[in-house]
Amino acid sequence: MDDFNVVDGQLCAEQVPLEAIAAAVGTPAYVYSRNTLCSHLRRFREAYAALQPKIRYAVKANSNLALLKILADEGTGFDVVSRGEITRVLQAGGDPAAIDFAGVGKRRDEIEYALEVGIDTFNVESEGELELIDRVAREQGTAARIALRVNPDVDPETHRYITTGKSENKFGLDVQRARRMCQTMSELSGVRLHGLHVHIGSQLTQVEPYVEAVRRVLGLARDIRGFHPALETINIGGGFGVHYRPNEAPEMHEFADPLVALLKDCGFEVHIEPGRLLVANAGVLLTRVLYVKQGCERRFIVADAAMNDLLRPSLYSAFHRIEPVAPRDGDTSLADVVGPICESGDFLGKERELPPLEPGDLLCIRTAGAYAFVMASNYNARPRPVEVLVDGDRFGVVRERETVEDMMRGEKTEPAAWERP
Ligand SMILES: Cc1ncc(COP(=O)(O)O)c(C=O)c1O
Repeated sequence: MDDFNVVDGQLCAEQVPLEAIAAAVGTPAYVYSRNTLCSHLRRFREAYAALQPKIRYAVKANSNLALLKILADEGTGFDVVSRGEITRVLQAGGDPAAIDFAGVGKRRDEIEYALEVGIDTFNVESEGELELIDRVAREQGTAARIALRVNPDVDPETHRYITTGKSENKFGLDVQRARRMCQTMSELSGVRLHGLHVHIGSQLTQVEPYVEAVRRVLGLARDIRGFHPALETINIGGGFGVHYRPNEAPEMHEFADPLVALLKDCGFEVHIEPGRLLVANAGVLLTRVLYVKQGCERRFIVADAAMNDLLRPSLYSAFHRIEPVAPRDGDTSLADVVGPICESGDFLGKERELPPLEPGDLLCIRTAGAYAFVMASNYNARPRPVEVLVDGDRFGVVRERETVEDMMRGEKTEPAAWERP
C-alpha cells in the first residue's frame, strides 16, 4: 500500500503529479511520500502493539535526514552500523539513548564516539570487539550496555548476499560461543550485558525461518537468564520482505502474529529493527528516456538513470516495477530498460512489457525507497540524484542533486605536501 497512484490520468505522489516534480528538479530524481512512510510505521506499530517493542529503524535502508527526522519525530529509535549513521541520526534530532549500534567491524574511534554521545546498546559480534569496547569504556570511566548478536544458523531463504543468520555468514556468534561469552563477561567491568540480538537477513519472504530463529534465541535467553538475571532484552532484528512484485511477501500481520504469540509473555523487552518495510514503498525513482534503440534481439530503452543511481537490479538481479508516468497508446512489447553506464550489467529492468516509448518520456521505478539512494555511487563520474519529499499537495528538495564540483571536492592533481615515512 502506498501513495503513488494515478489521479486524473497522471501518476502522482500523494497529490503531486510526478511530471511536475521532474519538470521542477530534473531527472534522475528520488521522490519520497511522507504519508506512505508514516502509514507504514503506524501499521507496523499496530501489528506489534501487544509486545510494546522499541522500534529501531535500520538507518542503512535510507539515511536521508528528512526521513530520519520524520521517524525521530514519530518517536522511533535507530539501528546504526557506523559513526556516520550515528551522526546523521543526531543531526536529524534522534535520541542517542535510542540507538543500537550493530556491525561486525566497529572501529575504535566509532566505539569512542558512540560512548561519548551515549547510545543505548552495542550489538556485539565477536570476542575481540567485546574486549575493545570494554577497554574503551573503562578509559572513559563508564560501562557500555551490550547485547550479543547470535547467529542461529537458520536459512532465511532470501538472496545469498542478504542472508546473515547461517553458520557460513560473518555475522553474530554461534549459540555455544555466545553462551560462553555470557558466562565470562562479568569479569569485564567496562561492559554490562543486558540482551541478545538476532537478524537473519533482509527481504525475507518466508515467516517460519524468522520465527524459528527468534525461538532459538529466546531459548538461549531463558537459559542465560538462569545464571545472568540482568538479561532483559531480545532484539529480533528486521528483514521483513516487501512487494517488489505483487504478492511477493507476506502481509505485515503474517510476520507479526506468530512473533507476537511467541514473545507476548516472554518477560523480555523486545527491540525490533525494520528498515525496508518502512521505506521501500515510500519511494520511487524518476528517470527520463534518452533514446529508444532497436537491437538485433530486443528493444532497449536507454534512460538517464543507471546502476550508479539504483544498484539493486545489477547487484542482486532485483526486480523493480517500471511504468510510464503518462499513459502511452499502442501495443506493449518486451524491452530492456538500461542506463548510460559502460557495463552490460547496467540495467534497471529486463524483458519488460512496455508500450511504445519516446525520448523525453518519464518513467517511474517503483519501490525505490530502500537500499537505493544509499547505495548510489559516482561510477562513470555521475553525480548522485536529487531527493524530493512530498507531503500532500506540496513537495520540496530534501537533498540537492550532486554537482560535478561536489564529486571532485578534496581531490588534488598534485600531493599537497610530499612526506617520507
Ligand atoms: C542488524 C540489522 N538489523 C536490521 C536490518 C534491516 O533489515 P531490513 O531493511 O530488511 O528490515 C539489517 C539489514 O540488513 C541489519 O543488518
